[in-house]
Order: sequence, then C-alpha cells, then structure tokens
Amino acid sequence: MTPEWLIDAVFYEIYPQSFQDSNGDGIGDLQGIIDRLDYVRDLGCNALWINPCFDSPFRDAGYDVRDYKQVAPRYGTNRDLCRLFDEAHARGIRVLLDLVPGHTSDEHPWFRESAKQEENEYSGRYIWTDHAFEGIEGRPYISGMTERAGAYMLNFFASQPALNYGWLHRNRPWMSAVDSPEALATREAMKDVMRFWLDQGCDGFRVDMADSLVKNDDESKSATSAIWRDVRRMLDEDYPEAAMVSEWSNPASAINQAGFHMDFYLDHHYNGYNTLLRDYETEGGDHSYFRSGSGGDIRRFLQDYLPKYEQTKGNGYISMFTCNHDTPRPARTLSADELKLAYAFLMTMPGVPFVYYGDEIGMRYLKVRTKEGGYARTGSRTPMQWDRSRNMGFSEGPKERLYLPQDPAPDAPCVADQANDENSLYSEVRRLIALRHAHEVLQADADFEVLRAEAVPPFVYRRGDLILAINPSPEAAEWSSDLLEGRYVMHAINGAVAINGQLRLPPRSFAAAGYR
Ligand code: GLC
Ligand code: CA
Repeated sequence: MTPEWLIDAVFYEIYPQSFQDSNGDGIGDLQGIIDRLDYVRDLGCNALWINPCFDSPFRDAGYDVRDYKQVAPRYGTNRDLCRLFDEAHARGIRVLLDLVPGHTSDEHPWFRESAKQEENEYSGRYIWTDHAFEGIEGRPYISGMTERAGAYMLNFFASQPALNYGWLHRNRPWMSAVDSPEALATREAMKDVMRFWLDQGCDGFRVDMADSLVKNDDESKSATSAIWRDVRRMLDEDYPEAAMVSEWSNPASAINQAGFHMDFYLDHHYNGYNTLLRDYETEGGDHSYFRSGSGGDIRRFLQDYLPKYEQTKGNGYISMFTCNHDTPRPARTLSADELKLAYAFLMTMPGVPFVYYGDEIGMRYLKVRTKEGGYARTGSRTPMQWDRSRNMGFSEGPKERLYLPQDPAPDAPCVADQANDENSLYSEVRRLIALRHAHEVLQADADFEVLRAEAVPPFVYRRGDLILAINPSPEAAEWSSDLLEGRYVMHAINGAVAINGQLRLPPRSFAAAGYR
C-alpha cells in the first residue's frame, strides 16, 4: 500500500533555521514557516520535508537530537508544530518531519543514563564495549569520557553515539543480537517517537541514514531492512496515509526490501544523479549533463538510473532533488538558463521530486564560515532571499544576528523580483510544477520510456502520450519521428517548436509535445 497522494506530490524541503524568522531573533522558526505556506502552495508544492526541528545542542544542526518529542525552543513549541500541520493541511500540503533513528545527541537523557556505571533501563540503548580499554574495530568510538567502563560507538560526529539495534554478524560478547531485548527496545522506542508525531497530524518522515541501524549487516542490509519492514507494517495498519522517504540511495534495498515508499537518489560521486548537475569533481573537468557545452552524456545517467528504476517500478519511487542541505546548490555551477532545463527534467521524470528552498530562485552556494557542524555544507544553508527589504525579508532582527550571512551580491536572487518576471527561473519552476500537476502521465508512477539517448543531445523520452525533449547544448538540435505527427509543443523553454513531424530545439531548450 503506497499512499495515493505521493503520485502527484511535489515536495519542498525547508531548512527551518533559514526559511523565515518571525520574531527577529535571526533564526527561522515554525511561525515563519506558517507565514510562508501560501508561498509554498503558490509555487505548486503540496508537501514539505522539514529538517530536524527538535530539541538539540545543535552540534550537527539538529541531527543530534536531545529530545525527539520536543520542538527546539528556538523554533517554537509543540503547539506551533501542530498548528503548522493544521495550517498546511488546510492548504492541501502534507508535512514530513525528519526522523534521526541511528543516533542521538550525547546530551539525550537515554545516553546520559546509558553512560552511568549502574546498570539501568538504558544500559543497552547504545553500542558499548565491555571495557574502557576495548575499542571497536574499524568503527569510530569514544572511550574515557564516561563513568561507565566501556567505549561507545559513534554513528556520525563525536556528539552522535550510535543507538543499539544489534549486530548481524557478532564476534564480541558485547555485540547484541538483532532480536535481543535491548535491540528490540530501541526499535520500539523509535516507533513510539513516530507514533507520537503521526498522532498529532504529521504525514510521515524523511529518515536520516536509514541504512545505518544494524551493524555488521550484510551487503543488501537485510537486517536493517527487517526493522523498516516492521515499521512499515505499523504504518500500513495504523497510518496508511503516512509516507516515508529514506536517505539510503539504494532503491532496491530501501524500497523493495525495507519497504520505504521513496528513496533519495543522493549526490554521490560517479553515480547517475551526480552526472546531471555536479560532475565537477571528476578528473578531466565538469561534464555535467546540464552544464551547457560541457559535452555531458545523458547515457551516463541512464546506465545507472534505468536498472534502479526497472527494479523498483511498481513498488515505490526514486526521489531526485534539486539539492538538499548536505549538497552544494546547483547554482554553484549552473546558470539560470541551465537550471531551467535541469528542473524541467526533474519535474517530468517518474518518482517524487523535491525542491530545496531557494533553488527555485537559483540561490547561490555561498562561501561562509562553518556553522553547527555544517562545514562545506554550510554554503547551501543560508537564509531564504524573499525581497529587497531588510535581510531580504528573512528577519527583522539585526544583520549580525542572522543564523548565517546572506548573499551580499547586489544581484542576489530574490522571490519578489522573480515573481514579477515571466522569464525568471522562479516563474519557469512554477509553470513546470503546474505542468506536472496537470498531466497524470508526468507523475510519479506513470510510464517512462527513452526514445533517444546518444552522446549528443537531444535527449528524448516519453511519458504516456507526452514526448519530452531536452537540448542543453549551445548548438541547435533536431529530432524527427512519426511519433510527432499531429503534435504541438505545449510547453517550451527557449523557443522549441514542432513543425511537420520535427522537433526544433534551439540551444538550451526544452519541449513537451502533446496532442491538442
Ligand atoms: C544525514 C543528514 C546530515 C547529517 C547526518 C548525520 O546525512 O542529512 O545533515 O549531518 O545524516 O545525522
Ligand atoms: Ca525566530
């Protein structure tokens, strides 16, 4: 059972600290998100993913949770979050929260209890060795910081101890089995967190490091998947409308085996997604497909994507995004014209697309000091640029107090300018999202077939009775086919037309051809 609403879902990812500050303290908050829900709706997005907004010491921007059931005071209260659910629902917008199941903050009360010498309910909640002098082979761990005699395993940064879901292959006495009482207790505790928010109106979760639960798992992560299958049973029975998207980037495991409804296709070097927008770390220069004139080849994407798509078709959706809070913004290397084509592609592919806040206006990847464990990621996390008023409409507070500095360029993109300009990136994104909503054949589950993929553009594909063609190159391109008989271009970027069974694609253009 996959929730129906995903078929036509277009998500908008909100980094809560950087979207809209409602009280002048320089940090975005839940009331700020509520105030901007009309904006999200008008853009055409009908679902949100909100990055962690829970109580935290913020050593990893909130991915170090101190209390899963409490909104961080800097964002507001639990009541504000419930109001956000209601206000979003009133506008036809679903809300996914970010679930961090693999680790907590080392300030979480579970961890504090777990670190005590005396045995207690939480002694087995995290992964500990039996002695302060025994480490964990091949894994990051910390020893000597606690009263408890043992080393504890880390899941990410030093402030993020790994929760204990057990080990599949065990070779030390302190490694819990996946069905041990302590491993099962961790799983139930996480399900309890999920129920807590689902019962209050949350529509599901984006799951952080979803593949990281069971340690020494096999290659397909079968033991970790079994845990998610159990979660899925709970959802199917009690919350059939709730949706789950995994940070996994292996859809055959995440979707077919673990039961996630969607899996992110992450920006990993050399994978198919990476070749589209961010191929700049490969030797020999940037050959990103959407970088005009870079000589990018769509087959590099398709080789990786098509098997994944075929394997998971009918079971769930691959999710491609414009960017996320861990990834350099696409405007780092792509111009607004190039971004229009990239987004045209993302909005006409199968699966469920995600727009990262600010990418709809081409916000830049900024050179800024690291903040809250962001490091290189910080440049994609700067405050939203709404208009030309104080702090670009993000906050009424003093500039020095902003969560992060904003783009200082005089031509820093902003919503207000672009909303009034038909030719802007923002206006194009709006039209593209509307196009997707208007045609069932462009949505998550409808057919996808490649019609032309060669070293040189155009890339031509079919979704149901629509034919889509993209030419990112600086040269004009053409495509002739009987299939074009009687068709016209219903959506064009940069002047693409269909004449007598031929698509004429000027440099950097896109066409969606259908019947009248
Ligand atoms: C995921 C998050 C990232 C975070 C990490 C640890 O990759 O997206 O922001 O730092 O997990 O929770
Ligand atoms: Ca605030």
